[in-house]
Amino acid sequence: MNEPTPQASHRHPPPATLLWAGDHTGFLRLLDQTRLPVDLVEIECRDAATVWHAIRRLAVRGAPAIAIAAAYGVVLGVRESADEDLSARVESACDYFAASRPTAVNLFWALRRIREKTQRWLAEKELDLTGLLERLLAEARQIHDEDRQLCRAIGRHGVPLLQGVAGVLTHCNTGGLATAEYGTALSVLFTAQDQGLDLHVYVDETRPLLQGARLTAWELQQRGIRATLICDSMAAQVMREGRVQAAIVGADRIAANGDTANKIGTYSVALLCRAHGIPFYVAAPSTTFDLSIASGDEIPIEQRAPSEVTSLYGQRIAPEGIDVYNPAFDVTPADLIAGIVTEHGVIQPVNADTIRWHFPATPSSATAITSG
Ligand code: MRU
Repeated sequence: MNEPTPQASHRHPPPATLLWAGDHTGFLRLLDQTRLPVDLVEIECRDAATVWHAIRRLAVRGAPAIAIAAAYGVVLGVRESADEDLSARVESACDYFAASRPTAVNLFWALRRIREKTQRWLAEKELDLTGLLERLLAEARQIHDEDRQLCRAIGRHGVPLLQGVAGVLTHCNTGGLATAEYGTALSVLFTAQDQGLDLHVYVDETRPLLQGARLTAWELQQRGIRATLICDSMAAQVMREGRVQAAIVGADRIAANGDTANKIGTYSVALLCRAHGIPFYVAAPSTTFDLSIASGDEIPIEQRAPSEVTSLYGQRIAPEGIDVYNPAFDVTPADLIAGIVTEHGVIQPVNADTIRWHFPATPSSATAITSG
């Protein structure tokens, strides 16, 4: 088959997914992902509401990136609050962001970490507002920086799974746009490329909001990785034709038994992989595990606006008044997952025991997390 050589476009490195500009009086700059890949537009967030709405409308999205954005958003929320009580300022900013999106548990992990740290700081020392804001900003920067390192470690641990694999399928977007840098499932593919593996990636477009077509295709192209875009409904045929030997996706919340919530359509990919004898892998940091819930039945699934299904770029594609069901995520049962790559290694097989062994001291990220 004659395949076009991808053109890497490194002429203008794209702006960072998230960037805090300045000190605690500064602001958060986000790359508006709703405009990609056509326009590179940044949003300057100088108040908490701008961050909240950016999360809600997916201008910033992907489980780790949502958590990082909210951590910076708390700085803005605390700064603008009129409450006398500093602890109350932090609590209400965290409550506010907890109501932005319900499924990705990284958000609740970050907010819990911020609440706990705040309690400790305020108990240890008398802080004024500036002192608190400086600490909150340092904490947000640390959450951001730690995620960079988690992504790199996931990439390193995942590459051995792809030895002998020529074609790999992925769903949604799990790269630098969804995280601090490098990504989760895409980090494995980027690291494979760094190590000289020649992979051909099949990218599910990911209806309804097209994170695969708009974001993953763009990120792979930026890096010069061979990529072919397909409609979600083409995955079965792609597998039947023997074009892929593995699938790898990210996650928004993984229960204690390994059931995994990810972008709607992921469950179908896992079922297709089972039918074709292809291993289906998940790549996610410990911050995506929610060991407080036994199974995927307890994962809250975000329901989004019908207009995301009935319209494309403001253009109506379905009849006025049609009933719509639009769950943003689905849950893949653990028994369909061949392995979960984390920053510590690969969980294989995937079940409650292997997950417990993988995190011998329960990860701080994974306990008693409140859903939105
Ligand atoms: O609705 P989104 O775009 O935030 O959904 C994102 C996903 O489902 C990703 O696969 C997941 O967050 C993993 S990101 C590293």
